[in-house]
Amino acid sequence: MKHLLQCIGCSKEFKPTQIYTCPECGDLLQIVYDYASLNRKLRESLSTPGPLSVWRYHRILPVSIKNAVSIGEGGTGLSKSSRLTQRLGMTKVYFKNDGQNPTGSFKDRGMTVAITRAVEIGAKRVLCASTGNTSASMAAYAAKAGLRAVVLIPKGKIAMGKLLQAVVHGAKIVQVDGNFDKALELARRMASRRRGLYLVNSLNPYRIEGQKTLAFEVWEQLGRRVPDAVFVPVGNAGNISAIWKGFQELRRLRLARAAPRMIGVQASGAAPLADAYAKGLEKVVQWPNPETVASAIRIGAPASWKKALRAVKQSKGAIIKASDEEITTAQRLLADHEGIFAEPASVASIAGLLKANRLHLIRTYETIVCVITGHGLKDQKAAANFMSP
Ligand code: F0G
Repeated sequence: MKHLLQCIGCSKEFKPTQIYTCPECGDLLQIVYDYASLNRKLRESLSTPGPLSVWRYHRILPVSIKNAVSIGEGGTGLSKSSRLTQRLGMTKVYFKNDGQNPTGSFKDRGMTVAITRAVEIGAKRVLCASTGNTSASMAAYAAKAGLRAVVLIPKGKIAMGKLLQAVVHGAKIVQVDGNFDKALELARRMASRRRGLYLVNSLNPYRIEGQKTLAFEVWEQLGRRVPDAVFVPVGNAGNISAIWKGFQELRRLRLARAAPRMIGVQASGAAPLADAYAKGLEKVVQWPNPETVASAIRIGAPASWKKALRAVKQSKGAIIKASDEEITTAQRLLADHEGIFAEPASVASIAGLLKANRLHLIRTYETIVCVITGHGLKDQKAAANFMSP
């Protein structure tokens, strides 16, 4: 679909070329469409019954469906909470289980679009920094497309299942001494020097476009209604920004009248955004040494912080934090009350919901969606730890 890249800082628009940030002011970019021309066709395609998937929404994606590098992403379940939240008086809580994606995390929604874009621009190699899930997903989609994959990971700090996924899909693994933030800085530098190397971290606006489809699916799964609030685990802050973009587009296309409050949840040991939000700061202050059991969101310098703070402000939401203990409790409760096994970072949304309930940030009658971002089998060590007495 025809699109432009628009800077979120200075609002300048650029033709789609291989840039990741604004050439004028350095801020992040977002993809914009001619929404007026989209409206009719999109309405028609959404009224046609059919299975949910990322590519169901191809008319509002910035790549051509003809080139789609797909292994069956999206179309994940939305299950209604029965035992976990009803005992707290909440009757309309849903889990959007993105652990059901092909490589076991929500990253596949973005990666299918980013790798399709890589193919369209003729890139031969793709690159990412990762706490594990992005690298697993990128490696799989690169394998499908026949591209070479290079992943930068913080040495000794990612779950074994995720590392194994990148290895089996044939990626070249580079272990970086230091944390994710250092690995991302390095990846950005490498990508700026070599044009054939395409960076697919979530600062790449094409990734975000794939991830926004979660909002469209939720809207369809709730009978073309948006929920009152959506809880999302936050690390590098791409996903909450993406989901908010999806809900905003639904409103812009007049498919929905309202938009939900976006509630981001960070781990207490890696919570620069929650801090900035609590202090009412305009900017995020980096945390040099983030630490949490939820290794996927152990991030001190979230690349998409500005988009995330905007999402929360515009939606009248919040960014809160959950302790490692609250996260572990949520993981156990989800597994033994709802039959969903999710990795620690994934259940930050549930920990956040339980906390928000205690803090009266939500009302028990509201329709609430908790996004579950990744499968529990990826980090078996974390699960074994919470099961041991
Ligand atoms: N949940 C899981 C399971 C993740 O893997 C991540 C991020 C997040 C939540 C947070 O999403 O960064 O968009 O705010 N994982 C990245 C990675 C950083 O490299 O796999 P975010």
